[in-house]
Amino acid sequence: MGTFQRFWRNYCARHLRSYLAGFAFLAATTLLTVGIPVFVEQAVNAMEAHAPSDAVAWAIAVVVAGLGIMVVRTLSRILFFNPGREVEYDLKNDLFAHLTTMPRRYFDKVRPGEIVSRGTNDASSVRALVGFGSLQVFNVVLSLVFTIGQMLISDALLTLLCILPLFVGAWILISAIRRMFVLVRRQQEQIATLSDRILETYNGATVLNAFNAMPGATERFTQANDALLESALGVVSIQSWLLPIVTVVGSVSMVIVLYAGGTMVVEHGLTKGELAAFTIYIRNVAGALFGLGWMLNAVQRGWISLGRMYEVLDAPTGRPPCDAPLPARAAPGYALSVRDLTFRHPVLREGADGAGESGRPALEGVSFDVAAGEVVGVFGLTGSGKSTLLDLVARVYDAPAGTIQVAGAPLETIDIRAWWGALAYVPQDAFLFSQTLRENIALAAAAGERDDDRVAAAAADAALSDDLAALPDGLDTVVGERGITLSGGQRQRSALARAFYRRFDVLLLDDVLSAVDHATERRLIDAIYRRAAGATALVVSHRISVLRRAHRILVLDRGRLVATGTHEELLARGVEPYCRVHKLQQARDRDEAEERAAQPAPSEVARG
Ligand SMILES: Nc1ncnc2c1ncn2[C@@H]1O[C@H](COP(=O)(O)OP(=O)(O)O)[C@@H](O)[C@H]1O
Ligand SMILES: [Mg+2]
Repeated sequence: MGTFQRFWRNYCARHLRSYLAGFAFLAATTLLTVGIPVFVEQAVNAMEAHAPSDAVAWAIAVVVAGLGIMVVRTLSRILFFNPGREVEYDLKNDLFAHLTTMPRRYFDKVRPGEIVSRGTNDASSVRALVGFGSLQVFNVVLSLVFTIGQMLISDALLTLLCILPLFVGAWILISAIRRMFVLVRRQQEQIATLSDRILETYNGATVLNAFNAMPGATERFTQANDALLESALGVVSIQSWLLPIVTVVGSVSMVIVLYAGGTMVVEHGLTKGELAAFTIYIRNVAGALFGLGWMLNAVQRGWISLGRMYEVLDAPTGRPPCDAPLPARAAPGYALSVRDLTFRHPVLREGADGAGESGRPALEGVSFDVAAGEVVGVFGLTGSGKSTLLDLVARVYDAPAGTIQVAGAPLETIDIRAWWGALAYVPQDAFLFSQTLRENIALAAAAGERDDDRVAAAAADAALSDDLAALPDGLDTVVGERGITLSGGQRQRSALARAFYRRFDVLLLDDVLSAVDHATERRLIDAIYRRAAGATALVVSHRISVLRRAHRILVLDRGRLVATGTHEELLARGVEPYCRVHKLQQARDRDEAEERAAQPAPSEVARG
């Protein structure tokens, strides 16, 4: 189905009545507008026939028609413009809703500025198309047909003479608007680039300053801004010479009407009233042609913007429809089964517009089973694929079909919301929203449904108590970009508290204990294993102290699963790099313990 039909059916059709009423008022506007020159003609002719009372009556008709135009014109605009606002509103909602269903893969390759510009610039261009554009289409057609018709009836020769320059003017106008359109589109892209630069500089300010790279960033910003200024000035220069040209063309027409029409009056081919009417006709035609230029602009721009919005709305989620319910749980938690799982991250290729696949897979031929209620540790050096594995189980990325099963059902067929409802996932880089810590912990709960006792218990289990005491408003401290910046460790523990707040069947923890001291680590490990009881858990860590209590440990090495076993089994079998790391960490932990014995313990807040 064509874009237009879909757009009409999904967004505009419900405003049909508003459009029809608007069209009726528009037609009334045109009729009255067309009436005025006729009344003027009659008034002038009455004066000439020495019938002043008739002339006054026609003059009053002109005034009444003028007032009438004010009313019906305003009504027609309201009836056309309101649907525009509503369509824009609906489109924005749909765009946002669709984006929330898109997989990470999509956001890995689309620039944030691009998405912002579709939701803002493009949405308002579509509004202009639906409101102003559609109004102008009808307005221009009605005015031109009626006015030119009237003129032809009145005097065909004079009509041709004075209308020609107007059409030349319209042609100039349309080509100028074309050119402007190109510049405006370029401007929109440049605005997207500029917002990307601002975001990048804002997010990377610390690094840019520390590396003294801010001048370079400023220079890149200035370049982008210069380009934007250039196209903006281009638009202004076209606008500034356009109006004089149009005015001159209008005057040429007027001169023709007065000269040729005057001659015709003298030679009695034309009444004085008709001549007077003609001066108004050409003003109306000029107005309509001017409107035609803007209409073409609005329609063309709106059309392209609509296409750009549909590009996002139609972007496939990349997921086959998944609506199978979660399998019933027999035991606590869900059994997981991974079979021959190979996964490559997409990489962006410079210049090409799609994403290719990177060389070495992040995971290669990985197979293992996790029983329901089992707590499985995942060990591996940096880059071994631990985070990728959790991302695949959590469906941040989609694993190849059939490679991951939940209680015997292929993961990709299970309703994704239901699956997410059963999960608690603490990713490696925990994200906190700009709201209170309490709201961050009870993330999914609406304000009225929040259970503050659960929040407090979750925070305590996540070893946040000392940190809370140090924050100005405890749990009600606003954190994140617009609040207090927490340390990496505090952020991780807040994210852990967020997981503890949930009732989960599957717990996924990605290296959440990478930034804590020993005493806290022991408390956290206790809490994690206590909370994980009654669920299936994958606990990723490079800290062996965290993993040794797991029922089993998977050892990943460069994307391959090299061993599975309990802590003791792995040590007994001499599995590398597990044993090597175990020795190193033991030695380091002993050193630190000795150091601590020699000095007063540093507070955790100071360390975090
Ligand atoms: N978003 C991504 N895009 C491209 N490559 C990635 C992405 N995330 C991870 N990788 C690559 O996948 C491999 C495994 O990474 P990861 O799963 O993060 O390992 P770990 O968590 O064990 O450190 C690494 O080679 C890494 O560079
Ligand atoms: Mg990782």
